[in-house]
Order: sequence, then C-alpha cells, then structure tokens
Amino acid sequence: MPSDEGVPARRAALQMLDAVLRRGQTLEAAGAKATNLVPVDRALASAIAGETLRRIPDLDALIDSATRQRLPDDSKARAVLRLALAQTIGLGTPDHAVVATALPLVDGGPRRLVHGVLGTLLRRGLPPMDSCRLPEAVEERWRAAWGEEAVLAARRLIARRPPLDLTFADATAAEEFAQANGGRSLAPRHVRLDSSSVADLPGFGAGGWWVQDLAASLPARLVPREGREVLDLCAAPGGKTMQLAAAGHRVTSVDSSESRLGRLRENLGRTHLSAELVTADALLWKPKRQFDAILLDAPCSATGTYRRHPEVLYRARPRIIADNSALQSRLLERAAQWLKPGGALVYSVCSLEPQEGEERVMAFLDANPTLELDRPTADEVPLPVPAADAGWVRILPGLLETEGGLDGFFMARLVRRG
Ligand SMILES: C[S@@+](CC[C@H](N)C(=O)[O-])C[C@H]1O[C@@H](n2cnc3c(N)ncnc32)[C@H](O)[C@@H]1O
Repeated sequence: MPSDEGVPARRAALQMLDAVLRRGQTLEAAGAKATNLVPVDRALASAIAGETLRRIPDLDALIDSATRQRLPDDSKARAVLRLALAQTIGLGTPDHAVVATALPLVDGGPRRLVHGVLGTLLRRGLPPMDSCRLPEAVEERWRAAWGEEAVLAARRLIARRPPLDLTFADATAAEEFAQANGGRSLAPRHVRLDSSSVADLPGFGAGGWWVQDLAASLPARLVPREGREVLDLCAAPGGKTMQLAAAGHRVTSVDSSESRLGRLRENLGRTHLSAELVTADALLWKPKRQFDAILLDAPCSATGTYRRHPEVLYRARPRIIADNSALQSRLLERAAQWLKPGGALVYSVCSLEPQEGEERVMAFLDANPTLELDRPTADEVPLPVPAADAGWVRILPGLLETEGGLDGFFMARLVRRG
C-alpha cells in the first residue's frame, strides 16, 4: 500500500478550500482544476471540501478550544485541522486515516502542532454537530431580514445532506415512480428521494425526469398555462426550460454562457423536449417578437442553495449582492419590454437576500406602473408557504423542514395591464 494513500485527495481538498475562501471561486470550478486526480479521488476531495465549508465556524470553535494561542484564520495549520475534523464529523472517516492523511499536508511546517491539536480533539470525542453555525455576517443579514427562527432552521438544514428532488415531465409518471422507488411526492410532477446517486436511478436514460430542487421548480409553475410563446431568459442549464417545454409551451431559451447552454442542449436531448436556444447577453439581445410569458430566473448570489453549495455563504459578500441587484434590475427592465399586453413576467432568484428579491420587484413596480403583481394560486404553489401579503412567494429555511427542506427562493409574477 503506498504510504501517501489518500493524501492527494486531501491536498486537492485543501487547494479547493483555498480557491473558494481566498479567491472566491465556486467549489465546482475549483474541483474541475484537480485534473491530476482519478475521478473517485476528485469526488472525495470535493466531498471533504464541501463538508468543511458547511461547518467552518463550529470547526474553528473546536480548534480554538484546543490551542493556547489562536491560530490565524488563514494559517495552513487551521486549514488542515478544519479539513481533518470535517472528515470525522461529516464523513465518518476513522481517526487513524484522518491523522495519517492530515500530517503530510503540513510536512516541513506546523506538523507537531497539528498532530497535538488533532490528538487532543479526537481523544476528547467530537460533538455530533446536528446544527452548524453559519458565518457571522450571513447570520446577521438573515436574522435582520427573516428573524431568528429562519437562522436556526438554516443551521439545522446545513448540517444534513439535502434530499434529492426530481421533476417529471408527466404527473402520472411521477406518482408511479414515487410508489415504486420509495419516494415522496410533495407537489404534482415532483418526487423526493433520500438517495443521491442520480445515475443509478431507474429511467435516467429514458429522460422522463430531471434533478431540480422543489423550490426551483416553483417559478415555472407560475407561467400561465395559456401562455404559448414563452421566453426563458437566463435559462441554462435548463431545469425551467424543460418544465415549460413539458407543459406544452413554445419556448425560446436565452443564456449568455455557451458552455451552460451546451448542458441545456444535452438536457433537452436526454428528455426529448425542445426549445429554441439562443446564446446572447440579454442586456444586448433583442427578440424579433413579443411573448405571452417571460420567465426571468436571474443570476444572483445563490445564497438559497447554501445546503448543496455551502461556499455561497463565503462568496456572497455585500459587494457581490449589490452588483447582482444592479444586473437584476437591468434585466427586469429589458424583459418587461418584450411582454405582450396581458402577458406575465415571472421573476425569480435562488437567493435569501431581500435586495435580490423583494427590493428588486418593489423598485421595478415603482418605476413601471403598467405592470402589477399577480398573486399565485394555491394550485400553482402547492406548498404551505406562509401567505406573503405583498403577493409574491418567499421560500425561507424552515419550510417543510421535517421533509428535508427546500432551497431558499424568491419569485413574483407581474402582469402587464394594457
Ligand atoms: C440562476 S442561473 C439560471 C438557471 C436556469 N434558469 C435553470 O433553471 O436551470 C442564471 C443564468 O443566467 C445566465 N446569465 C448571466 N448573465 C446573463 C446575461 N447578461 N444574459 C443572459 N444570461 C445571463 C448565466 O449564464 C446563468 O446560466
């Protein structure tokens, strides 16, 4: 057995964490750079980095409880200790493997210190961590916006693996699949599973379903049934395009990213659905006709996806949120011009920042009096969402928590009067 077994994956995890925390990259982008690893090691490295990002404040508290002098936040010793402890807590890695793969990462450096701290903490026994504090800045922001309950729910949810949600093109097929595979259907055309291995699920090749968080499936449900010509703006990788096409609409899907549109094309091929695809910057592109309905699933901080992408908690700094807000306003202004009279514009973001949701829509409506909010019906949003008096839908951490929770989301339907 080679003596460095398991070390390359940990080294890669360390680099991924650095890329996320110091350089603001996504975990996916950072993981794609680990080309020297075999796929199984790359997956392990991503899993370790992800488990670490879920619980940094609590891991730091543990580390601080076992050191006399506080290790600097950006020290290698702290990074290696975080990574090692996250494996024990999140992945159940045996202690000897955690220690044996951590120490080579600090060769020629603070090896004795890391060995000592790890030994102390592992001997003491690590707490279960069924609730993980979020970075302080995020907790403060969410507490101010949504209250303490939402923060506590988010802490509990980030400590658990989120369930796997599938959206089906056909409602009957969803019910049959749920029955046959031990899934739960929480809405029409939806199935929730505890397992997370997508390729092993029956029917993947046949293309009757695709992976999509239940909250992410709601905006397309707000596109009126009778809207035939639908523009899906910011469409890739296409979960919502597939819903719209499956509902029978004629869909034009626009996205500025060629590579993400490539994934949309693949998704349409697998699901045997069709849409016209356009690679274009929506700030420059102009359609030749107007649409019955437009779905604008705008680029955002994506903080609502914190359970599957915990790095968003570190990437979504106030500046990023402000930049996104400005882009969202410009996209809303453009999209509204392409709507037929009586047409519906659905705006959505997978964000838990009011700046990207409620505030954008309020500012837009102030400046565009010919559009007004059109409250979704209980059929369209078949979930126990607390009624928002304003007429939009806000999904907060805590909704359906006992069922496994949902991504944080905001959506609103605006209708052009005249
Ligand atoms: C939230 S994602 C869309 C997810 C997609 N609606 C789905 O359901 O799969 C936002 C998308 O906006 C695209 N985007 C960002 N800026 C854009 C722009 N100026 N014009 C067009 N697309 C843009 C990004 O490439 C990204 O694919």
